[in-house]
Amino acid sequence: MKVAILGGAGVMGRWFSKFFIEQGYEVIISGRTSQKVVDFSKKILVEVAANNIDALKKADIIMISVLMQNLEDVVKEIAPYVRGNQIVWDITSVKEIPVEIMHRYIKKGTILGTHPVFGPRARDTNQNFILTPINEKEKKYAEELRKWLEERGFTVSIMTPKKHDELMAVILGFSHFIGLTVGDTWADLNFKEFDKAAGISFKTLSTLVGNVVSTNPEFYSVLQMSLPDVDKVETLFREKVDKWLEIIKNKDKERFAEEMTTLRKKLDC
Ligand SMILES: NC(=O)c1ccc[n+]([C@@H]2O[C@H](COP(=O)([O-])OP(=O)(O)OC[C@H]3O[C@@H](n4cnc5c(N)ncnc54)[C@H](OP(=O)(O)O)[C@@H]3O)[C@@H](O)[C@H]2O)c1
Repeated sequence: MKVAILGGAGVMGRWFSKFFIEQGYEVIISGRTSQKVVDFSKKILVEVAANNIDALKKADIIMISVLMQNLEDVVKEIAPYVRGNQIVWDITSVKEIPVEIMHRYIKKGTILGTHPVFGPRARDTNQNFILTPINEKEKKYAEELRKWLEERGFTVSIMTPKKHDELMAVILGFSHFIGLTVGDTWADLNFKEFDKAAGISFKTLSTLVGNVVSTNPEFYSVLQMSLPDVDKVETLFREKVDKWLEIIKNKDKERFAEEMTTLRKKLDC
């Protein structure tokens, strides 16, 4: 069994190359900058394809691992060459638009929208994986893939692309927003003094801020601007900031305690 990873020298492409090789699969990779693909192939036993079509032609499963802004070009390029017995997954972190794009162009084979909900720093397969099939053929394949992934340690959920994007607006979009705004606030304060004096709350937040700020801005801007209603969640957050700020400015200890008790009950903490 051979897997083609289009965008194979990117951070997720490299993670999945290693993963599939560990599972006993052959891997062939293609990329935009051929030097990056060649450099990566020197570190790990992957075959280098001349281009995306060459990679696709030699594979059983095709994983598209490019950023969302490049997905349509790649799908348009490969679509005429997809055979009926091939499987095409994308791993984009947004699902409605990519699944629609794949269906618009690819007329043969089995398509599946997937989202590994972890980044390239993941050290094991104890991670969440979402599959978003939209027709009976895809649902059947998604069940097979669920079993295969679960046997390897992943926790798999199957849902519609719409539901996925609604969840990710909060899980990814809002979390990244918090990381950015907290980091932006720290940057205006005396940040360098904090580290040595920090306790667990600060360190937890610091991990989030570090992860978010060090990620590719191109990737995160697309998430903020493509996931549905991210701005509404973030506007709600601003209202909550104002509410808590008002309580603190008014030195209203009683209301502070009431709000915290209510919150504890609502969140079941
Ligand atoms: N990073 C994460 O934490 C994470 C987590 C889950 C899912 N994802 C998803 O995984 C996908 C890949 O993300 P990533 O973080 O791995 O991004 P990345 O590191 O930027 O990798 C994307 C790769 O795609 C290549 N590429 C761009 N256009 C191409 C084309 N036309 N043909 C072939 N290759 C092309 C790029 O080549 P160049 O290097 O030459 O530009 C790059 O190597 C995205 O859809 C993202 O939403 C990412």
